[in-house]
Amino acid sequence: MPIEQTLSLIKPDGVARGLIGDVIGRFEKHGLKIRAMKMLHLSLDQAQAFYAVHQERPFYDSLTQFMSSGPIVAMILEGENAIRVNRDLMGATDYRQADPGTIRADFARDIEANIVHGSDAPGTAKAEIAFFFNALEQV
Ligand code: CMP
Repeated sequence: MPIEQTLSLIKPDGVARGLIGDVIGRFEKHGLKIRAMKMLHLSLDQAQAFYAVHQERPFYDSLTQFMSSGPIVAMILEGENAIRVNRDLMGATDYRQADPGTIRADFARDIEANIVHGSDAPGTAKAEIAFFFNALEQV
C-alpha cells in the first residue's frame, strides 16, 4: 500500500470545543504520523483562497466566514493510504450520514461546522499541504 501524505485541519468549532486532543488521538491510534503541525487563524482572504474550488457553491461565503472565525490546527498526516484512512476517520461531510464512531458522527452537529477537513485526493493533498506548510516546516 502506498505511503501518502494528506492535509488535515481541525476547524474553528473543533478547536473552540476542546477537541484537538481527541481528534489527534484518533489519527495516532490508527497509525497516521504527524509530520507537521501548527495553529493559525486564517484571514477571510486566506479562507477564500483555500476553498476557491467551492467559490460557485451557495455555502462559500458562509464557509469562508466560518473558517476565518477562530483558530484552526493544520497538520500533515502520513501513512499507508493516509488520504483514505483520514477520510474514513472523519466520516461523511454531513454528520447525519457519517458512520458511527467517526469524528463527524461523534462530534459534529452542523454540515458546515463539521470539526475537520481532509484532502480528498493525491493532487489536492499536495496543493493543500503546500498552502499551509513550506519545506522547512515538514519533518
Ligand atoms: P470540507 O471537507 O472542509 O469541504 C468543504 C466544506 O464545505 C465542508 O467540509 C463543509 O464544511 C462545507 N459544506 C459542504 N457542503 C455544505 C453544505 N451543503 N452546506 C454548508 N456547508 C457545506
